[in-house]
Amino acid sequence: MINFKFIISCLLIIVMNDCVSKIVNQNNFQLKFVFILSRHMNRAPLIEYKNITNRINWPRGLGELTDQGIWNAYRAGQALRERYLGFLHPLQRYTPSEIDVSSTSVERCYQTAGYLLAGMYPPNDEQTWNQLLRWQPIPIKTSLSKDHQQFAVNPSLCPKYSVELHEATETFMNTEKYKNLVKYMKNYTSSTLDTCYDVLKVADFIWTEHMANYSIPNWAMERKDDIDKYILSSMEILVETEQMKRLFSGDMLNDILTRMEASMNKSSDAKKIYLHIGHDSTIVPFLKTLNIENVTYPLYGAAVVMELYATPSNETVVKLLYNKDYKWKESDIKLIELPGCPQPCRLEDWRTYTKKIIPFNLSEECKN
Ligand SMILES: *[C@@H]1O[C@H](CO)[C@@H](O)[C@H](O)[C@H]1NC(C)=O
Ligand SMILES: *[C@@H]1O[C@H](CO)[C@@H](O)[C@H](O)[C@H]1NC(C)=O
Ligand SMILES: *[C@@H]1O[C@H](CO)[C@@H](O)[C@H](O)[C@H]1NC(C)=O
Ligand SMILES: *[C@@H]1O[C@H](CO)[C@@H](O)[C@H](O)[C@H]1NC(C)=O
Ligand SMILES: *[C@@H]1O[C@H](CO)[C@@H](O)[C@H](O)[C@H]1NC(C)=O
Ligand SMILES: *[C@@H]1O[C@H](CO)[C@@H](O)[C@H](O)[C@H]1NC(C)=O
Ligand SMILES: *[C@@H]1O[C@H](CO)[C@@H](O)[C@H](O)[C@H]1NC(C)=O
Repeated sequence: MINFKFIISCLLIIVMNDCVSKIVNQNNFQLKFVFILSRHMNRAPLIEYKNITNRINWPRGLGELTDQGIWNAYRAGQALRERYLGFLHPLQRYTPSEIDVSSTSVERCYQTAGYLLAGMYPPNDEQTWNQLLRWQPIPIKTSLSKDHQQFAVNPSLCPKYSVELHEATETFMNTEKYKNLVKYMKNYTSSTLDTCYDVLKVADFIWTEHMANYSIPNWAMERKDDIDKYILSSMEILVETEQMKRLFSGDMLNDILTRMEASMNKSSDAKKIYLHIGHDSTIVPFLKTLNIENVTYPLYGAAVVMELYATPSNETVVKLLYNKDYKWKESDIKLIELPGCPQPCRLEDWRTYTKKIIPFNLSEECKN
């Protein structure tokens, strides 16, 4: 029995090494570390506005994952297992040293992480503890999260940031284009829509129903492009100034760089993968902070990926990728040039280049 298992294991390792060479060893580049920042999966709208015409029953409630979202999270986990086969443990054994998983404290993010990990880490024979349940618990930590999207809704968390956000929002809401759109939306929804966030929640309602293939009211269809642009722009202004970038996204960037360095140092707490489940309002500001142009609105399960490789001459280089949705299809994963650090971008160079957007002490710098 042991021998048989041993032979199977060897075969598995050989087969896996064969089919993974693409990701794990590109031009003899050796994969060392992966960071994944993913948006949660399909969810219900966050609100229902006043005189809604077609009320839809969202079984798990507003803001929660839908059935589709649950399955897509699970499928994303299976796709990640495939993509990083050969980088991950060859016997598909979960070990705490392999992966760190964090989530914002929002339920749909936490649950996305949970279903995703069910797809990525089904217990292997040795880790199966219940024959009827192909599942094992993998830790998900909200305490590791450097996702500061809460700064945007709770001013007391970072007073200096909220002063700047307030200014940026005023300017944004006062552009003719959006003043006009808000007036239009107020009329048809009979809602007050006083703040940028009030408008965003209605705009998101439209986007969400459309993505879920429900028909949306004619008035909304007529201005759908403007509504979509509003959603994206309202997330871009979260990092309107250099200081806002530093306060909002700098901490997460620093965390990634530090994890990459720990991996190169073979530090005892280094992991192979760090997966964070956040929001559209995490991803858009993060890409803007890196000065990426032409940021598009992240679909459910869209992900920013940073892969760290060792080159044959022992340099360490960083690749930035953008994955379109939960499918993780190779053709939907695009390499993005890092502004200020063209490929091959050495980790040290990138550390130097990003110095100005990394806070020394976030809580100190948040003080007004
Ligand atoms: C929404 O409510 C307003 C008045 O509150 C009404 O004039 C309008 O016809 C309603 N629209 C829809 C689509 O129900
Ligand atoms: C306001 O909404 C009503 C329908 O509720 C519509 O007949 C009217 O044209 C709208 N006004 C504007 C300025 O869009
Ligand atoms: C909506 O329709 C498209 C095209 O038929 C399909 O690919 C997609 O899965 C559907 N989405 C949902 C949430 O049902
Ligand atoms: C990695 O090693 C370098 C040089 O020894 C050191 O400066 C740095 O603090 C280490 N970083 C981590 C995250 O271990
Ligand atoms: C951004 O979009 C503009 C206009 O579509 C295009 O000219 C430019 O090359 C794009 N930039 C990048 C970095 O893709
Ligand atoms: C790269 O590092 C490995 C392990 O540290 C070492 O065996 C190898 O000789 C190094 N290669 C070069 C080109 O420095
Ligand atoms: C950051 O500043 C706060 C005071 O605002 C202080 O309590 C904390 O110890 C500082 N952290 C570090 C790592 O220096």
